[in-house]
Amino acid sequence: MDKPPSTPPSVSSESDDALLQSRLPPTPPLQDYDSYHDKQPATITTPIANNAQQSRPYPLPPTPPQTHVLPSDLKTPDSHVARDPRLIRLTGIHPFNSEAPLTDLFSTGFLTTPNLHFVRNHGAVPLVVDDAIPDWTLTVDGLVARPFTISLRELMIGRFESVTYPVTLVCAGNRRKEQNMVRKTKGFSWGAAGVSTCLWTGVPLRELLAHAGPLKSKGARYVCFEGADQLPNGNYATSVKLAWALDPERGMLVAYKMNGELLPPDHGRPLRMVIPGQIGGRSVKWLRRIVVSATPSESWYHIYDNRVLPTMITPEQSADMPETWKDERYAIYDLNVNSAICSPAHDERVALAGTDGHGDESASSYTLRGYAYSGGGRRVTRVEITLDRGRTWMLAEVSYPEDLYRLAADGEELYGGRIDVAGREACFCWCFWSLAVPLNRLRDARDVMVRAMDESMAVQPRDMYWSVLGMMNNPWYRVVIHREKEGGIESLRFEHPTQPALMPGGWMERVKKEGGNLTDGFWGEKPADEGSAGAGENTAQSEPAKEISMVDEKVTRKITADELAAHSGEKEPWFVVNGQVYDGTAFLEGHPGGAASIINSAGQDVSDEFLAIHSENAKAMMPAYHIGTLSTPISSSEPTEETSTPIFLHPKNWRRALLTNKIPVSHDSTIFTFTLPGGPTQHLGLPVGQHLMIRLRDPATREAIIRAYTPISSDDDEIRDGTLRILIKIYPSGRMTQALASLPLGHPVEFKGPLGRFEYLGGGRCALGGAGGTILAKVRTVRRFVMVCGGSGVTPVYAVLKAVAREWKAGGKGAPECLMLDGNSKEEDILLREELEEIQKVGGQRCRVVHTLSRPGEGWKGRRGRIDFELLEREVGPPPAQGDSMVLVCGPEGMEKTVKESFLAMGWLEEDVFFF
Ligand code: MTE
Repeated sequence: MDKPPSTPPSVSSESDDALLQSRLPPTPPLQDYDSYHDKQPATITTPIANNAQQSRPYPLPPTPPQTHVLPSDLKTPDSHVARDPRLIRLTGIHPFNSEAPLTDLFSTGFLTTPNLHFVRNHGAVPLVVDDAIPDWTLTVDGLVARPFTISLRELMIGRFESVTYPVTLVCAGNRRKEQNMVRKTKGFSWGAAGVSTCLWTGVPLRELLAHAGPLKSKGARYVCFEGADQLPNGNYATSVKLAWALDPERGMLVAYKMNGELLPPDHGRPLRMVIPGQIGGRSVKWLRRIVVSATPSESWYHIYDNRVLPTMITPEQSADMPETWKDERYAIYDLNVNSAICSPAHDERVALAGTDGHGDESASSYTLRGYAYSGGGRRVTRVEITLDRGRTWMLAEVSYPEDLYRLAADGEELYGGRIDVAGREACFCWCFWSLAVPLNRLRDARDVMVRAMDESMAVQPRDMYWSVLGMMNNPWYRVVIHREKEGGIESLRFEHPTQPALMPGGWMERVKKEGGNLTDGFWGEKPADEGSAGAGENTAQSEPAKEISMVDEKVTRKITADELAAHSGEKEPWFVVNGQVYDGTAFLEGHPGGAASIINSAGQDVSDEFLAIHSENAKAMMPAYHIGTLSTPISSSEPTEETSTPIFLHPKNWRRALLTNKIPVSHDSTIFTFTLPGGPTQHLGLPVGQHLMIRLRDPATREAIIRAYTPISSDDDEIRDGTLRILIKIYPSGRMTQALASLPLGHPVEFKGPLGRFEYLGGGRCALGGAGGTILAKVRTVRRFVMVCGGSGVTPVYAVLKAVAREWKAGGKGAPECLMLDGNSKEEDILLREELEEIQKVGGQRCRVVHTLSRPGEGWKGRRGRIDFELLEREVGPPPAQGDSMVLVCGPEGMEKTVKESFLAMGWLEEDVFFF
């Protein structure tokens, strides 16, 4: 097909779509797309016959195998995505993040088949059926003279010129497992195969931008890309600089084909950015919108992901540093220089010449091989190998298959795109290095290490630069050499630094277990041993990190999903954590969260919740309840937006509500308002005195952050407007509260519940320790509540007080009297003060609220001092001789301890003092 000129018409004024249509070359009719589409089916076939390779000077992709939807994906939102079973899952079953085994990737060659290309998905893969592909639209707008929307049909068939070239994508987390071994980062554990190369076909971004006409006079400096995937913190979006986007040497591409096929779902079907030389995180998949802007993207995923923060910032500190996260100096764009050893593989054995190891090994050699890459289009100019820890180096051979595409004939097309490599100097792909080393030299070395240098003379560092997200890890890649003898045959065994995900193996794990210090600059081994044969003595400076085991090693039973399902009720509740099955029956009575929290987990994989909210002590108790291993993984249900159910909360399923307002009520506390999906007629479904769980995902790692809260709104409020209001104190280093505070309005948040061991049933009746309502609960009737709270601990206590006040107002019989002791630091810290005053007015004689301040200002006329024995003795005293009284407590740990000791000392019974 003849292509119309790709240069855009010169239009200088702002324009609308109609204007755009009139100035663009006419859109070829639909049939053209269809006939094109017929020739290029979306199923996996080899688009160019294998014998075509002979006539081309550059590599063509190998034929990928047929892939199918895997059973493990069937129960996830990705049940429409076919995948290769060899891919190693790095974050459990879903979302799908994976890399190929390093040897499989490397042996596939320069071009990776899409089925082995690494995948980094922050959430579910959008479902785009074949028929919808031509109508997929891309909008280009923002600070541009001529915003426009274009369909994929128009993009593919020649309105703009299409080009094809190879690009290596690399996840910024490539090799992160090594960082996690040194110190846990906020990222999951990539091995060294978070790198892949394909031939990408699409339209140059600069052509689309030139057509839209960026308005530099209006401050246009950045180009933002938005994906269609719906994620917990909004759509995936990020940005790059406009100057780069317009630079042909940067080769940014709006791509619709991968190795000549329409994009597979995992890789952005049907349209994505491909940004050569930069971290994969900038190559937005499922591309919907390109926005030219004056400032970088404000997406969570741009700010809280893909950054290298200064090394001294800990994960805990980073939770309270919004300005540091936003500092563009720490954002990663260009890749840094990196290399890895692929051959020998991890655990590969090479027999030494002569069966007894005394033969003439100098005669034989082993060829070490691996990959290297750099960023920003910079070429890798040397790769060096050391066998003596950097004292001396050997130069490896480097091959650049990418250069073969520079030999393509002028204007030659591949997959409907002009091969566009020769015109630029930049290098966008990985290269391969090799070095044949005599076996006897390998035999005498402790380890082999590789480092690469690029054309800007940037060289891989000897030592790791650890940072909180563990990205851009590129120290010398070290493989340890073990000399071993088995059955009379002496051989060398090679040990890579790590294995991906939770896979065991690698010298880093071994050295750490042995107590070695991985940060001592000597890979955890004794410097004094340098040069001597027989590696592996460690500088045992620290106790090996104690991993808490939650399994009983003697338990060998395999449990099927059906067996688990049979235990999803109140009787013998079983639940799953990290693939292990636990029987919670024996703990129904004693669980501090009440029987409900176990029953609500029955039959489910509750790894997220369990790991997020349990202490090390609780984890250490788990082997006693361990009964087996789940034989096939079950997936946890996805959160839903339930508009039709009369009750919003569900004890087993996460449900979404939108954050719609944030009102600061003190210097550090905010009321967050969430709008229920079912509107004012939907009930929250939270019994008085119980709490709910909120789940957010860490924007960078997708690790779950879960905390329990008691809302200040309730189903019995006089005005019900379909919202849920929660008063939350924002802690400077609180992961949840910081994440909530920076959550933009309009974002969904996940809720589950109710939860708790206490419920106020009305008329003084309280249910204790049950599974919701009176099931399994002990019910007692109280005549007086003593409520003791501190700071934001007022919220659960307030929920009960509010319910009692409603009874007083209605003249209800049996409503107990209430005394509330509320401790705070300063007057401005007192939360819900007005609401409490209102309740006092309603209660009259039946209600007293006493505030006490530990750091009062001069004008404070109320009580001074902390909540301590003296105050409690004066205000409460010993338990009354007659009438049932109960103490309800919620506050900081230290305060709760004092309160408990004081009440016991005054003669109260433990069962009369309840801690929320
Ligand atoms: N685009 C969208 N829309 N959603 C995503 O989760 N992940 C990014 C990027 N583009 C992501 C995305 C990251 S972090 C990487 S490394 C690359 O996609 C991975 O691309 P791949 O999965 O095709 O290898």
